[in-house]
Amino acid sequence: MRTVASVDVGTDKIVALVGEVDPYGDVHIVGVGSTKSKGIDKGSVTRLEVAARAIASAVREAEEMSGQKIGNVIINVSGPTIKSQNEKDTINISPSPIEVEQSHINRLLEMSIARAKEDGAEIIHAVPRRYILDDQEGIEDPVGLIGSKLTAQVHIVKVGTTLSRNLEKAVSSAGFTPTSRVASALASARAVLREEEKDDGVLLLDMGAGLTDFVFFLDGYPVITGSIPLAGNNITKDISYFMKVDQEEAERIKKENGVALMDIVKEGEVIKIKPRGETREVSIEKRRLAEVIQIRLEEIFEKIVEHIESLGFKIENANAGIVITGGSANLKGMKEFIERFTDLPARIGKPTELTGLKEKIEDPIYSTAVGLLRYGVTPEGLLSERKVGANTNNNYKVRNFLDRVKEFLREIL
Ligand SMILES: Nc1ncnc2c1ncn2[C@@H]1O[C@H](COP(=O)(O)OP(=O)(O)OP(=O)(O)O)[C@@H](O)[C@H]1O
Ligand SMILES: [Mg+2]
Repeated sequence: MRTVASVDVGTDKIVALVGEVDPYGDVHIVGVGSTKSKGIDKGSVTRLEVAARAIASAVREAEEMSGQKIGNVIINVSGPTIKSQNEKDTINISPSPIEVEQSHINRLLEMSIARAKEDGAEIIHAVPRRYILDDQEGIEDPVGLIGSKLTAQVHIVKVGTTLSRNLEKAVSSAGFTPTSRVASALASARAVLREEEKDDGVLLLDMGAGLTDFVFFLDGYPVITGSIPLAGNNITKDISYFMKVDQEEAERIKKENGVALMDIVKEGEVIKIKPRGETREVSIEKRRLAEVIQIRLEEIFEKIVEHIESLGFKIENANAGIVITGGSANLKGMKEFIERFTDLPARIGKPTELTGLKEKIEDPIYSTAVGLLRYGVTPEGLLSERKVGANTNNNYKVRNFLDRVKEFLREIL
């Protein structure tokens, strides 16, 4: 059986998974490793050696559990340098209609990728959405159909070069080869979303500790992928500030008593907290705690909705509503908060259709790592611009861009 391995490098934790791929393409998870994240903040490496050690420790744990030796790993990239855009290109196939071939699609993708190229950023995904063949719209797969002019819409996702290079360096220093990079939100989407939800329109949020990664799907395909630097840590800091408790106590209060929506907390309900520097506990109103949390969540949701609208899309078009995953999705009342705030249906997304160490990883904090493994089986729309381990001397720069595109086309097609 083929083995795949993933590393989710988060602000709060680093998770490594080892999976075995059966002949049907299903992944059986056979190894899990998790360590407290160090030297990483909001998707960026802040201390190389420390980050490398934390990554190594998570992967070693997964290796031990699985009894497999890991070399290649698929990693996530996230943070505010994640940007997306939608390209549309057309080629004339032939004056009189002929059969569309794979090479025509490849040419179209090459055009979109070449146009989206930008200094300081790397393209990590190019997802073909719908095709238009002559006047016929909504074509899912044009290969074999007859036509004379083909148009493709392609969703492109980019990440800042500096962020991505340093992350790859940390993974390489840990002793592993990062073969592919996947935007966190797209990885989580592969772990938690149903096909019907993507078809109907859905907004997927992965709210972790430092970042809220998001991807908006319409008609089955992503139209916006992004990441904002606000998430669970901001909530903890707010609690620490307003309740005058240290961060550790704020984190405990949030997990044990935090509620995302004020209105669902009974009036008069109190909880005990330990203020900074005091030995005695004091009582505070649980509603007051919920208010602090709700205000921050409103800010996060406003930012995401604004981002979506600034790109000309409407959140109301997410007919399947909102799916939230990541550790902060465990906050009590999150579903109720989202439904109230957006007027759309919401659910908490956990990794689905798992086999292997199912119980252990059926939690929103594992969504990204599980989705990364699935990219290892079917790298749909994944653009591997270079293989880091094989390019330790930066010689990837010498290779011309179209070679890289060809490599990518070999991988996805
Ligand atoms: N039961 C809970 N209630 C509220 N918050 C929770 C709960 N469980 C976990 N969290 C929060 O989830 C966050 C960690 O989530 P996650 O593991 O998805 O983050 P990460 O992937 O390490 O970070 P990021 O993706 O932001 O870089 C922390 O802020 C933690 O406080
Ligand atoms: Mg995360």
